[in-house]
Amino acid sequence: MTATLTDSQPQLFGGAVEREPIAQEPLEDLAPRTEPAHDSSLEQVDHGSDAAGHNENGYVEIDPGEFLASYSPPAIAGDFRGKHIVTVEQFARDDLKVLFEAAATLKKRIRSGDRGVVEIATGQVLALLFFESSTRTDMSFQAAMLRLGGKVVGASNGIQFSSVYKGEDLPDTVRAAGCYADVIALRHPKVGASYLAARYLDQLAEKIGRRSVVVSAGDGVGEHPTQALLDLFTILESRGRVDGLAIAMVGDLKHGRTVHSLAKLLATYGARGTQVNFVSPPSLQMPTPIVQQLTNAGIGVQQTHDLGEILGSSDVIYWTRVQEERFSDPHEYEQVKHGFIMTPKVMERARSDAILMHPLPRKHEMGGPADHELLDADPRSVYFQQMENGMLVRMALLAKLLKGVHI
Ligand code: NCD
Repeated sequence: MTATLTDSQPQLFGGAVEREPIAQEPLEDLAPRTEPAHDSSLEQVDHGSDAAGHNENGYVEIDPGEFLASYSPPAIAGDFRGKHIVTVEQFARDDLKVLFEAAATLKKRIRSGDRGVVEIATGQVLALLFFESSTRTDMSFQAAMLRLGGKVVGASNGIQFSSVYKGEDLPDTVRAAGCYADVIALRHPKVGASYLAARYLDQLAEKIGRRSVVVSAGDGVGEHPTQALLDLFTILESRGRVDGLAIAMVGDLKHGRTVHSLAKLLATYGARGTQVNFVSPPSLQMPTPIVQQLTNAGIGVQQTHDLGEILGSSDVIYWTRVQEERFSDPHEYEQVKHGFIMTPKVMERARSDAILMHPLPRKHEMGGPADHELLDADPRSVYFQQMENGMLVRMALLAKLLKGVHI
């Protein structure tokens, strides 16, 4: 049995909580603690090539960034089967409705011990290509495939012991995985890596006569589409709707791919009457094209470095880690790393019906272990729900991409 998800059906997701009046207390202590001097453009740390782009083999490596322009991701447009997933912009509101209904149904079916779930992807294989560290995304993709009855492969001792170690390039590694698997989850430090993979997998399909698809598990500082899907699902589950909400995204908005994708997804979802407030140190602001995308979609946007301005009126507070690994200058990281720290005291200023989200992992931006304990016990914290939902949404996505099935 399936349920229909609409914004007017909060009961499917447990119901929206009554709204409380906006807190009016002064919030001076919530202002950023440091003012970084420098606002460089979106840059990324390059791994393993010199200034001219020569890799250790002495040839000029393909720049995955070029594929952002040359590869056009297919719109889902009601049919998920065989499509690569590289950006949230592929999903229209109706596609999200279908996907989230499937995820909500899977949640019920798993909880009721429905054994039919393991037949959904029987005989299918997921390959994991993770060129960056991961806990949640990696394990939730694996768990998703295994719970659907599929199998998972990866280089036995990790990608660093694959032929990448011998100097193999990304197109070849991706096509090797494509020869063995039906779907590949790819995480890579370079923007556009999943676009490159999509292009080469299309070529491979012509060669071998069988199609394997890539799902981005995070492209450097670019996008993290499946995280945004689970984030939006969690907002709908917790608050019953996204239309009309005030959503605050806080922290490293420049390098945070989760917030890039979530912001874009709100635009493509066509959120109505939604206000998105970006709170960051001036040097870590949301990239202008994404801000523009929201504005063009009719979503209200405010950019500020003063959390106090918006905390008390936020329905959704999405906290993020300062992405230390993306800074080429460690001093710059030191200057901004204490900008925004969420603690139980800060959370006191939030509405009683707000939700606190975090993609995790968390470091000092959520205080210390004692703060974690208290924040975790706060019913407004939904980051554990996000984690479980990540598996469910990835299950729904894998099922739809591989089989196009109605769940
Ligand atoms: C995020 C990521 O990898 O971008 N983690 C995740 O996938 N849940 C966020 C982060 O690393 O800060």
